Amino acid sequence: MSGDYDGRGNRDRSITKDDRPVGRTHYAEGAARPVAPDGPFLIGDGMTGGYGRGADILHDCTLSVEKGEIAVIVGPNGAGKSTAMKAVFGMLDLREGAVRLDGQDITSLSPQARVAEGMGFVPQTSNVFTSLTVEENLEMGAFLRQDDISETMAQVYDLFPVLKDKRRQPAGELSGGQRQQVAVGRALMTKPKLLMLDEPTAGVSPIVMDELFDRIIEVARTGISILMVEQNARQALEIADRGYVLVQGRNAFTDTGQALLADPQVRRSFLGG
Ligand SMILES: Nc1ncnc2c1ncn2[C@@H]1O[C@H](COP(=O)(O)OP(=O)(O)OP(=O)(O)O)[C@@H](O)[C@H]1O
Ligand SMILES: [Mg+2]
Repeated sequence: MSGDYDGRGNRDRSITKDDRPVGRTHYAEGAARPVAPDGPFLIGDGMTGGYGRGADILHDCTLSVEKGEIAVIVGPNGAGKSTAMKAVFGMLDLREGAVRLDGQDITSLSPQARVAEGMGFVPQTSNVFTSLTVEENLEMGAFLRQDDISETMAQVYDLFPVLKDKRRQPAGELSGGQRQQVAVGRALMTKPKLLMLDEPTAGVSPIVMDELFDRIIEVARTGISILMVEQNARQALEIADRGYVLVQGRNAFTDTGQALLADPQVRRSFLGG
């Protein structure tokens, strides 16, 4: 696989959660449990399930991403991309399958507990508080933290300088691209090890999309893994270490981003030729 941790030059881990206690010995019921540490950094493994008592939406769906890598999920509308993200984040009861993060089985954890374990999630819709200022949105992102958040906030402002200029403005007054930056910044405030983004470039211009992808690459270079759903499949696969094509809740194609871009069948069916 391309782009291992050191190969991408990921030496600056300052916004990654690397100060976690190790060697804990007691595990409460429903807590994260250590498993074999040699698997992928994050894996949703054989996920099967749906909403409530409804029919299954996901069928043996597997997604994984290594440390500091970018994994991109593409597929037609209604394929289950958002559902798969929700399953990884613990918003869906899986009938079968497991989610493992950094050597721990987190399948039984609530979304909030997953945030504490290092997951950041930017949902597809309603991902900012429009009536709160930019800075208040970032502060909300850090609600689980007890420590000083000013350094992380400065890092978010370094990544997205326009947010610093607009920090006192209600997020609802920002452009679509700027709002997406707020949403990503808010997720970064938890110091995640894994950042999950559901269509971060929805509704933005091609130039703003390129900008956002550049920032996402920058985040990955700090050692944070990215799991991202994208409608702009071609452009997203260009920056993907690993790509997944989902169709009707199933893995249809899985390969490196480059290999998927070069696959005639993938091109014909999902990339417009
Ligand atoms: N909250 C929900 N309750 C019940 N069914 C849902 C819910 N959300 C989505 N679904 C159904 O699950 C299936 C997959 O939807 P999902 O939103 O995961 O697809 P998607 O690939 O993200 O689509 P899009 O590209 O439009 O974002 C669809 O049939 C949808 O109707
Ligand atoms: Mg979706």
